[in-house]
Amino acid sequence: MCGIIGYVGNRHPEEILLEGLKSLEYRGYDSSGIALKNEKEIQIIKSVGKISQLEDKIKATKLIDCNMGIAHTRWATHGGPNEVNAHPHRVGKIVLVHNGIIENAKELREELERKGIVFQSETDTEVACALINEYYEDDMITAIDKAVERLKGSYALGIMLEGSNKLYAVRKDSPLIIGVGKDGMYIASDVKAIIKETNQYILLGEKEIVELSNHSYKIIKDKKEVLKEVLTADVSKEAQEKGNYKHFMLKEIMEEPIVLENTIKPYLDDMNLIPDLTCYEQIHIVACGSAMHVGFIGKQLFEEKAKIPCSVECASEYRYKDVLYDRKTIVIVISQSGETADTIAALRKAKENHIDTLAIVNVKTSTIARESDKTLFIEAGPEIAVATTKAYILQVAMISLLAYRSALVRNKEEKRIENELKKLPRLVEEIINRRDTYLKIAKKIYQEENVFFIGRLMDYAICLEGSLKLKEISYIHSEAYQAGELKHGTISLIKENTPVIGIITNEKIKEKTISNMEEVKSRGAFLITISNSKVDCGDINITLPKISEYLEPILVVPTLQLIAYEVAKLRGCDIDKPKNLAKSVTVE
Ligand code: AGP
Repeated sequence: MCGIIGYVGNRHPEEILLEGLKSLEYRGYDSSGIALKNEKEIQIIKSVGKISQLEDKIKATKLIDCNMGIAHTRWATHGGPNEVNAHPHRVGKIVLVHNGIIENAKELREELERKGIVFQSETDTEVACALINEYYEDDMITAIDKAVERLKGSYALGIMLEGSNKLYAVRKDSPLIIGVGKDGMYIASDVKAIIKETNQYILLGEKEIVELSNHSYKIIKDKKEVLKEVLTADVSKEAQEKGNYKHFMLKEIMEEPIVLENTIKPYLDDMNLIPDLTCYEQIHIVACGSAMHVGFIGKQLFEEKAKIPCSVECASEYRYKDVLYDRKTIVIVISQSGETADTIAALRKAKENHIDTLAIVNVKTSTIARESDKTLFIEAGPEIAVATTKAYILQVAMISLLAYRSALVRNKEEKRIENELKKLPRLVEEIINRRDTYLKIAKKIYQEENVFFIGRLMDYAICLEGSLKLKEISYIHSEAYQAGELKHGTISLIKENTPVIGIITNEKIKEKTISNMEEVKSRGAFLITISNSKVDCGDINITLPKISEYLEPILVVPTLQLIAYEVAKLRGCDIDKPKNLAKSVTVE
């Protein structure tokens, strides 16, 4: 998603802005730009491609003397990735950057064109810029207020006015924070972008307008000033660095044992801290991508262990479908960023229907964390790589604890798993250190066109995440398939050496899955088996420690994350920032 940073203070802004953009790279982008402003001039420099290309252009340009600027990384939605469409945009006296989507941009553009405005770009952002310029007479707050009343959709806007020494911002649905520093004031899409400057920040609320000057700020909502709490970010600078690792993704996989320990520990001391869900008659788990895959694991456990019917819903579908709620429903939303637009919309839909909501989320200051009735935080720390790894594992741990807590209430005979929870981090550590095995497998995969993951029940849920990880960072096509379903068509794609990764953790269906594996092997597949018991029908067989079924996925998925990592490395892919992807999809 797009990233925004702005500064006004007593320093030159370009270095602050560029550093901020680099911290926002993980959000995904295809072009970037910067606007510098003093009392007399506005200077705009833009570039397609990487931020280093923008940096080169800035270095080759004589910059104006100034103490204010805004900058932007663009993830194209309206109009292709080119310099004309890159932000910042300027119309008349107004220059701005935008994260989000203006849904009524077309009608507003036509209205403004009828007034003689000639647009340079294809973007919805330029329309927002022209609207504020149209409404500006002598007061920016009024102009912004009038404009946002017309704008439909999502926006976080950083705005500068020709001749003014103030920086402005406003948001709706897209995240934006205000940074309070000793050398000046900041706006940013998230606190990571300014953590090297200050850890003091304010969360801007929906449709709140902020006016920033060198050392002060004013927040206005509905024409009245509002006072907001200044928060302290807990984002360590170390978390922003790769350290000795080649990629953030590898660093974050290697952090899994410690973040697991940190997340589980409070509940080992008191499992009652986990909500009991046995008062509900149905659970809807709603999320996107990898977070949705966590839901499939949760479904298996809620239904098998806690005996609570559970459906897993893709948030982008759920937000528009006719949902059969009843009072005894709880909606669980899962999100690392807490800013995924579709998941927020699903959460709001549940709340509009007076349905209880519970969030499993990593970012404590996120919209989902703030708007859910209950929140279970995972302690992943900042996850920089676009492909989620440690956060996914912790979300699985949290949904397993939720199912376990309810199973304990429902079944007095339920086997306790606290001792296995205590062992879990060390077991994960042993597994993630088997790097040679994963490299050996990767060498068999990295030049193939198709890779299949097969499993049944919980193992199929695990396959979904393994397949997505491989696709998103190595760009190899992959599919997760219920092992028993493959023969109903897709098995026609299996040819000599097609890699198939078969997963078996459930003794109950072990023999069934083995026969599915034999089916693909007899058609030439290169079979890799991952199991918690002796399985030797594969060309390569990985045996993992046996553990409670609540915790099996947490041992299996790291192997799939590392296989995907090694494949992507062999293919020379941009592992931390895969093409077309964003860390937080804050637009529909
Ligand atoms: C990133 O690896 C995931 N593949 C991506 O699907 C992510 O899980 C999804 O976009 C949801 O993000 P969230 O957890 O921040 O809501």
